[in-house]
Amino acid sequence: MPIEFTLNRQPVTAADDKADMPLLWFVREDLRLKGTKFGCGIGQCGACTVLANGNAVRSCVMRLADAKGMSITTIEGLASDERRLHPVQEAWIEIDVPQCGYCQSGQILSAVALLARTPNPTDADIDAAMTNICRCGTYLRIRKAVKAAALLNRTSKL
Ligand code: FES
Ligand code: FES
Repeated sequence: MPIEFTLNRQPVTAADDKADMPLLWFVREDLRLKGTKFGCGIGQCGACTVLANGNAVRSCVMRLADAKGMSITTIEGLASDERRLHPVQEAWIEIDVPQCGYCQSGQILSAVALLARTPNPTDADIDAAMTNICRCGTYLRIRKAVKAAALLNRTSKL
């Protein structure tokens, strides 16, 4: 049976012989979406983070078969359209978070999942949820940007 799921709001089908392929490989090599990064390959660094039904998951350790029926979002599909970025992306730009940028698509998607669960996170909430590694040490700006995104989310709903 083919593996069917939604990726960035589009239906996707993969052959069943790819069931054990990591979702990360499928996204990068088959779909050529390079925004999701390969770091450690063992679920530790978070560079490969995508959203699966709104939860942040590490796509290097998620089998393609386990994506069946799910709604997957990569950084390329986060903005609702080309002219309108997601509030977390807006906040990342406002705070000028990235240094080299390698970890940042994963950081942004982790922040989106955090804010969906906890709309007004404390520093402790952010530190507990944002376990993605940044070798450039942008953690303080990430924390600031998560709070800026929370404020943007609140004001855009007023
Ligand atoms: S590459 Fe997936 S967690 Fe590091
Ligand atoms: S910005 Fe360089 S690894 Fe995070």
